[in-house]
Amino acid sequence: MRSTTFLLCLATLTFATLTAKADDQPKLEILPKSSVITKAIGLSLALTCKPNVQNPSLITQLEWRDPKNRKIDTNTDSSSPYVQQLTSEPGAVLIFTKLTEDQAGDYTCSAKYANTEAIEATIKVDTIIDITWVDAPESQFPVLGKDYRIRCEVQAKPAPIVEWVRNKVAIISSDRYVTDNKGLLIKNVRESDDGLYTCRAVVVSTGNVKERNIKVEVQVPPQLNELKEISIIEGEQASVQCSGSGKPPPEYTWIKEKTRENLATTDRFDVKKNTGLLIINKVEYNDNSVYKCIAENQAGRAETTVKINVLIKPKIFEFINITSPIDTETKIICKAFGRPTPRVSFRKLSLKDAYTIGPQKEDKRIVVEQSNDPAKGETYGILSISRVNRTDDGLYECIAENEVDAAYKNGHITVEFPPTFEKTKHYPPVWTWDNRPGNLSCIAESIPNATIIWRLGGVEIQNSPNMKIINNGPQSNLIVSAYSEKKFFTKYECIAKNRLGDATHFIELKQAVVPGNIQQVTRADLTATTVKFNIVGPPVLHGLPLRAIIVQYQTERERIWDTAMNRTWSIDAPYIVENLVPQETYTFRFAAKNDVGIGHFGAQELITMPRRSVPAEPKILVSNLHENSTRDFVANSPYADHFELRWNVPSDNGDPIDSYLIKYCVSHRVNGEWRDSTAECSTEITQSFEYTHYELNQLSADTTYKIELRAHNAIGTSSPAEIRVKTARGLDTAISNHEGPAISSAMIIGIVVGAVLLILIVVDITCFCVNRAGIIAMLCYRSKSVDEEDPKLGSEEKEPLNTNQNSTQPINYEKRNISVEFDGKQVHTKPVEIGRHSAV
Ligand SMILES: *[C@@H]1O[C@H](CO)[C@@H](O)[C@H](O)[C@H]1NC(C)=O
Ligand SMILES: *[C@@H]1O[C@H](CO)[C@@H](O)[C@H](O)[C@H]1NC(C)=O
Ligand SMILES: *[C@@H]1O[C@H](CO)[C@@H](O)[C@H](O)[C@H]1NC(C)=O
Ligand SMILES: *[C@@H]1O[C@H](CO)[C@@H](O)[C@H](O)[C@H]1NC(C)=O
Ligand SMILES: *[C@@H]1O[C@H](CO)[C@@H](O)[C@H](O)[C@H]1NC(C)=O
Ligand SMILES: *[C@@H]1O[C@H](CO)[C@@H](O)[C@H](O)[C@H]1NC(C)=O
Repeated sequence: MRSTTFLLCLATLTFATLTAKADDQPKLEILPKSSVITKAIGLSLALTCKPNVQNPSLITQLEWRDPKNRKIDTNTDSSSPYVQQLTSEPGAVLIFTKLTEDQAGDYTCSAKYANTEAIEATIKVDTIIDITWVDAPESQFPVLGKDYRIRCEVQAKPAPIVEWVRNKVAIISSDRYVTDNKGLLIKNVRESDDGLYTCRAVVVSTGNVKERNIKVEVQVPPQLNELKEISIIEGEQASVQCSGSGKPPPEYTWIKEKTRENLATTDRFDVKKNTGLLIINKVEYNDNSVYKCIAENQAGRAETTVKINVLIKPKIFEFINITSPIDTETKIICKAFGRPTPRVSFRKLSLKDAYTIGPQKEDKRIVVEQSNDPAKGETYGILSISRVNRTDDGLYECIAENEVDAAYKNGHITVEFPPTFEKTKHYPPVWTWDNRPGNLSCIAESIPNATIIWRLGGVEIQNSPNMKIINNGPQSNLIVSAYSEKKFFTKYECIAKNRLGDATHFIELKQAVVPGNIQQVTRADLTATTVKFNIVGPPVLHGLPLRAIIVQYQTERERIWDTAMNRTWSIDAPYIVENLVPQETYTFRFAAKNDVGIGHFGAQELITMPRRSVPAEPKILVSNLHENSTRDFVANSPYADHFELRWNVPSDNGDPIDSYLIKYCVSHRVNGEWRDSTAECSTEITQSFEYTHYELNQLSADTTYKIELRAHNAIGTSSPAEIRVKTARGLDTAISNHEGPAISSAMIIGIVVGAVLLILIVVDITCFCVNRAGIIAMLCYRSKSVDEEDPKLGSEEKEPLNTNQNSTQPINYEKRNISVEFDGKQVHTKPVEIGRHSAV
């Protein structure tokens, strides 16, 4: 049967080949026209079978059979192929909606022609599988140090060849790279294995090629740096950095081991999960713990721990003021807390240094001890003083220190002591006069405050019209209205008492009287119009001082003291009477005055005033001149070129001073003696009586001058007051240094003008000598009027000097004066207006 079919086919084929026209032979045709059709699975396929006969209407039973010779029906529901008849003409279409591998095989189309002739055609359906990526993700993450297979599982039929390319270079299998049907195995992955890999599948028989790019990123498991134990301070902000490496960068977690809290979710803590920073706000005592830092990424996880110690600033939680009776032992305790456990010391606030531990070197009574309780972090410091005395009273500072900080607190030791009148013991008696009430004041020192009672003649004083007690301690005043009754002028007893003891103090109330007589009066100084006395007053009553000395005086002729002139001096003032008339005779008498009144006038003196005469010698004032200076004394002028002379107005001896005369000469020291030059002297300068100063100008630097000052009145001139003054040195350099730009620019102009003039003169002289031409020549032969101009020019320049020599007023002494000031560092010079310090 089969061989007949084959032969038939062969015959048909041969026939078809040999005869171009074989159309009249009935047959079936399958489209597409091919004996084998190759198609990738999953695709759809339609095979159309059509009769090629003269009369298609004679075709019946047109059908398709599968490779197992089963008729394929028209059921479209299943995934198996189905048949659809053509409507316009005879024909059947075999449709594969989705070709599968098991549908491959021979499919036959058969039919009957004119009810008798069986005709058929066969087509072979061959399936192939296209290249498909079964398992080949486009991003893959091997882990460093481990073996990793870059997955690239390919399916295809016929079987493909898979090649690997990285960075355009083919990967050849080696120790590290092994290709297999699942992918590329990389052994012991390194970071350098990062990159873009291409997995290429080739089906040789079909020429199909597909490529897949796979991005390979090597992941590195996290690694953490070790953390060192750290110390943080209570109340402050602290941070701990946990750092490590890993690829991709790991995320960090912080765990407090003590409580196993994840700190990311805890209020006071702030965890930066990307950087590993842990921030602790307002550190608390309980934060003392071991903390764990965990870093995680896709490649793995790492963790490390750190011990965090919370340090606590010292706090003094107890330092109580204490009160202790004198001569007992006292202890003041200071309790402090902190971590590390603090050291406690003490300092008396009035002293600079703290006490040392143990007994003090300077004062063995004071002992400092301290005891620690490290478990609680507490320290007790004890300052004990055996036999406290009053000097121990005061504020003490407790100092608690640890490595973090120091704390201070003050406490008071109050030393109680019995009343004492130490400070008021030597007070004077209380004086009273003119029926004034006596005010007796009693102040008792003590701690606690004393109460005071008063006693007179052993009997406690009660308030009465004559006696009034104001306050009863620690100060009490007893007001005694004595009214001159003798019995009240006596000693009163003040008794102060507190719980430690009592003390008694006597205060005497005394009747006060006016001062006694002046003891002695001597004449100290006498001029024509003044007299100065030395006075020895009367003895002073204890606690009742003298207030003044009073002098009454009148001319000898007058006898009634009521109208006498008088003067009151405060005690120890210079006792001088002024404005007396020369050659007049006066009677003086004296009395002393105290708070009670003026004593008896006495110590009468009769004095005849001298006649009018020349003034007394003025007194030159020099800051560093002593009254008892030796003759060799030389005052220093701070200035190089001037000196300010000052003096006191002397007594005019009856005739008003009308002027002062000043003269100064250069003075040389020869064989240790001063020699005053008579040649190098100024003229006598007159200064008006209205002034008591005069400025000497145009002095030479570093030169000693003797200055004489005399006062003048109508009668004549006083004896000279003398002083030697040495001027400062260094004026010349000072001027050229400090006049600065003004002088130097003037000098430059001067030099230039001078140089031009010189050249002109040289040229002129040359002209004169050579051919008697030029200005000189002209001058020589000109009239005398030209000559007169020269002296004129000269006189103008000398004029200031001349005027000065003739004048008694030294105002024009210098025309271009320069004042020099010495400020301790530099000498400053500046031009001074003429006559600025004129005396007139
Ligand atoms: C208190 O004691 C100190 C030390 O012994 C001593 O120097 C001081 O004089 C004493 N003061 C009094 C008031 O006793
Ligand atoms: C201790 O004494 C000081 C000074 O006398 C005082 O300022 C402070 O208030 C006192 N402290 C107590 C707790 O009494
Ligand atoms: C007594 O003297 C004291 C001061 O010593 C004073 O404070 C007081 O006011 C006086 N009393 C009378 C009544 O004068
Ligand atoms: C003790 O006396 C003083 C002075 O009068 C006073 O300031 C102080 O308050 C008194 N102290 C007591 C505890 O009464
Ligand atoms: C001093 O003189 C004045 C009048 O010049 C007179 O009122 C006064 O009482 C006199 N004083 C004495 C203490 O003489
Ligand atoms: C001047 O006299 C006083 C006492 O009057 C003396 O203390 C002082 O040392 C004397 N000065 C000179 C420089 O002699």
